[in-house]
Amino acid sequence: MTTTLFIQASNRPAEHAVSVHLYEAFLSSYKESHPQETIVEVNLFHEPLPYLGTTMITGNYKIAQGMTLTPEEEAEQQIVRKYLDQFLAADKIVIAFPLWNLTVPAVLHSYLDYLHQPRKTFKYTAEGLVGLLQGKKVALLSARGGIYAEHDELAVSFVKKHLQVFGITDITTIVIEGHNQYPNRRETIIAEGLRNTALAAKMF
Ligand SMILES: Cc1cc2nc3c(=O)[nH]c(=O)nc-3n(C[C@H](O)[C@H](O)[C@H](O)COP(=O)(O)O)c2cc1C
Repeated sequence: MTTTLFIQASNRPAEHAVSVHLYEAFLSSYKESHPQETIVEVNLFHEPLPYLGTTMITGNYKIAQGMTLTPEEEAEQQIVRKYLDQFLAADKIVIAFPLWNLTVPAVLHSYLDYLHQPRKTFKYTAEGLVGLLQGKKVALLSARGGIYAEHDELAVSFVKKHLQVFGITDITTIVIEGHNQYPNRRETIIAEGLRNTALAAKMF
């Protein structure tokens, strides 16, 4: 049985948020075309996601050393483990996120922080980091109001960089962009992007 994890990094209402539209269009097409699959949905805004800081970093260190954690460290590690285990258990992962203030929403940054676990998602070797999740397939769904050159874009490229560390190379990317920059073409840009999304979901 294939498990697909759907991660949504927006809590805006769908009628205002293009990235939420993207998420919903992909999900509904995917459910229709993959009726046998197990789907797990997570909205990162509905979850308590502590920032990576000294409690989490010390907790990570103590676990690696076999040391006893304080109750605060243990509480944060339980959250980290929950999301890490969920990610590791998924065969396919869909991540939908907006471009906000040049990058991803902070909750997605925190989520990605949880996944950086040596021996789970990557390992250190003499040749550098080696990702351990080569078999996973990921779809990135993102919306951005302006049009960005690839080297200037810090949301999709940011998430891809993390996935690369984990060894994930099978990545489908769907972007709706420019609907704020070109308001007279807004409806067309969004409609075409949603059509592409529904098609991509069928093939995913
Ligand atoms: C808080 C906020 C920050 C934004 N920052 C940017 C930005 O830096 N560059 C840009 O092109 N569009 C920006 N936008 C527009 C969004 O990229 C656009 O609305 C897109 O559809 C994704 O966000 P949405 O899913 O909330 O609609 C911003 C929108 C919001 C609400």
